Amino acid sequence: ETMKRERRPRVLVSRKIPEAGLELLRQHCSVTVGAEDGMLKREELLELIQDQDAFLSMLTDRVDGELMDVAPELKVVSNYAVGYDNIDVEEAARRGIAVTNTPGVLTEATADLAWALLMDAARRVTEGDRLNRAGQWHEWAPMFHLGKEVTGSTLGIIGFGRIGRAVAKRAAGFNMKVVVHSRTPLDPEEEKKWGVTFLSLTELLQQSDFVSIHAPYTEETHHLIGAKELAQMKSSAYLINTARGALVDEPALVEALQTGTIAGAGLDVYEDEPRLAPGLKELDNVVLAPHLGSATWETRRAMALRAAKNIVAELVGIGESTRVLG
Ligand code: DGY
Repeated sequence: ETMKRERRPRVLVSRKIPEAGLELLRQHCSVTVGAEDGMLKREELLELIQDQDAFLSMLTDRVDGELMDVAPELKVVSNYAVGYDNIDVEEAARRGIAVTNTPGVLTEATADLAWALLMDAARRVTEGDRLNRAGQWHEWAPMFHLGKEVTGSTLGIIGFGRIGRAVAKRAAGFNMKVVVHSRTPLDPEEEKKWGVTFLSLTELLQQSDFVSIHAPYTEETHHLIGAKELAQMKSSAYLINTARGALVDEPALVEALQTGTIAGAGLDVYEDEPRLAPGLKELDNVVLAPHLGSATWETRRAMALRAAKNIVAELVGIGESTRVLG
């Protein structure tokens, strides 16, 4: 019975994302794209966020109390990622700001990339490519550029959520033994269902030929893999990290790779991205991907839609949102 038109909710999208997400947002909201090309600088973000109802954030945006202080209208932070360690979730909860992420849509792409790194590190593909381009391949030879056999080896998965399980599924095709460690132990039924064996972290590290990390980054998982853990691994083993850089103590990893404590590593994430820890890029026994886990056309489009739907659900009440922490 009121003639008053509600104002359209205002959404700041940190930087350009696939069009499908922007299109959906524009149907319901007034949309500002912070940076058309490149990353939003902190000062620009703090300026643009002030009168916004929602923020579609990147994992490179720090969403903390300072930001929330200058954005009194903010009702939802929709992270364009499944991980949300860039967001002070407790601070948001205190202020009644909903925090959402993009679970599910990037599971397969990230599991695929973990496998790409595992295979690359084991069979020294990128290292061989470098050597080839440098004109250092002289002839096929019985003992030339040998690596580690993947089929039939033991894979240790740390963290057994969606992505860890998708990695385990792929291991079946390689006849691998799969051992798992996670925050919540698996019961025998789950072990059977997934064809895996639950182990303590130490046992997993001691038994695995490949260790792949699929845990969230939290205070508890900070430097989960440090010098002590690396020393527990086989000297013939490989570490794969597609989760978050700070799960691994990088200087300790560099040393382990230099001294042969472990055979090699495949990394997609770094503690201080895009900066690489000193010594890392000088090593031949590590594959260094630039945070590509979810980087497929299909997945990035699905993430854009999920992140946009979360904002529409929270602000307009259409559909369901995927909030973090229940
Ligand atoms: C995530 O979703 O957390 C990845 O790091 C980026 O897609």
